[in-house]
Amino acid sequence: MTSVKPLVFLCLCLIPAFHSFLNYKNSHEWTKLILTHHWPHTFCTMEKTSCQTADQFNYWTLHGFWPNKGGMCNHSWHFNVTNIESLLPDMKRYWPDLLHPNSTLLWKHEWVKHGTCAAYLESMNTQYKYFAKSLEMYKEIHLDNTLLKFNIVPSEKTYSLKEIREAILNYYQVAPKIQCVLPSQGEQVQLLGQIEICVDKQFQYTNCSEPAEDLPDSNVDIPAFESTAAAELHVCDESIAVLYPPVSTKLWRLS
Ligand SMILES: *[C@@H]1O[C@H](CO)[C@@H](O)[C@H](O)[C@H]1NC(C)=O
Ligand SMILES: *[C@@H]1O[C@H](CO)[C@@H](O)[C@H](O)[C@H]1NC(C)=O
Ligand SMILES: *[C@@H]1O[C@H](CO)[C@@H](O)[C@H](O)[C@H]1NC(C)=O
Ligand SMILES: *[C@@H]1O[C@H](CO)[C@@H](O)[C@H](O)[C@H]1NC(C)=O
Repeated sequence: MTSVKPLVFLCLCLIPAFHSFLNYKNSHEWTKLILTHHWPHTFCTMEKTSCQTADQFNYWTLHGFWPNKGGMCNHSWHFNVTNIESLLPDMKRYWPDLLHPNSTLLWKHEWVKHGTCAAYLESMNTQYKYFAKSLEMYKEIHLDNTLLKFNIVPSEKTYSLKEIREAILNYYQVAPKIQCVLPSQGEQVQLLGQIEICVDKQFQYTNCSEPAEDLPDSNVDIPAFESTAAAELHVCDESIAVLYPPVSTKLWRLS
């Protein structure tokens, strides 16, 4: 046994190096990209500090475009908003930082955590290309429009999770991941919060989840600066009615 100790010690010393090696390796290992939309009204009810801008966004906004494996693949590749100057009108409209209006904190976080891994693909190997491609996919998916086609619109009446999932399945021919804020005690409905649509490295739609596959838990993505969250997103519960809350609805969590 004693002969093992020096080896263990050596391995511990190598953890930092091994860790960055893993991240670098992970940048090559991902197999799909997760286009994550969030519903601003629900997102803002999750925060203790309310978002001032929520009622401005009555459409699904982009949360991120995430490789399904790895994160922070290149610590030395800093975000510089100058690189995406020409995208800013679209970024502000479709990828707003709901918690920090007019700031670049969300974009910086998304780049550092996810973009540096996505950049392994030539089609996303600059900051401009990564954000431009994300916006392009977001516009192509046009989630609001797809849901509308199936008469799924923000409403005081509730939907079943099955209705929402099947609309998406029917239209894109792939399974999404749908997340909700689950009811807390005494509440009857879950709030529709986040919808993920996945694509492969060729940007073709693909199922978000497959048996025995470990997709990253999206909750983990909540950046440190968003740590005021009062509630969390979970995969929606099949048996609970889903509220897709209109911007005008006063939600209990805000009261
Ligand atoms: C990491 O980023 C730096 C700075 O942009 C770049 O020079 C380097 O090639 C990148 N490394 C990898 C593995 O992408
Ligand atoms: C961002 O990029 C611009 C243009 O390349 C450069 O002038 C500026 O110094 C950079 N800012 C930072 C903080 O690196
Ligand atoms: C954000 O910017 C817009 C226009 O640049 C300005 O009208 C608005 O007051 C700003 N909001 C905040 C919270 O700074
Ligand atoms: C997606 O999953 C369904 C089963 O849920 C399967 O029938 C279909 O072939 C899968 N599609 C792709 C593109 O993998």
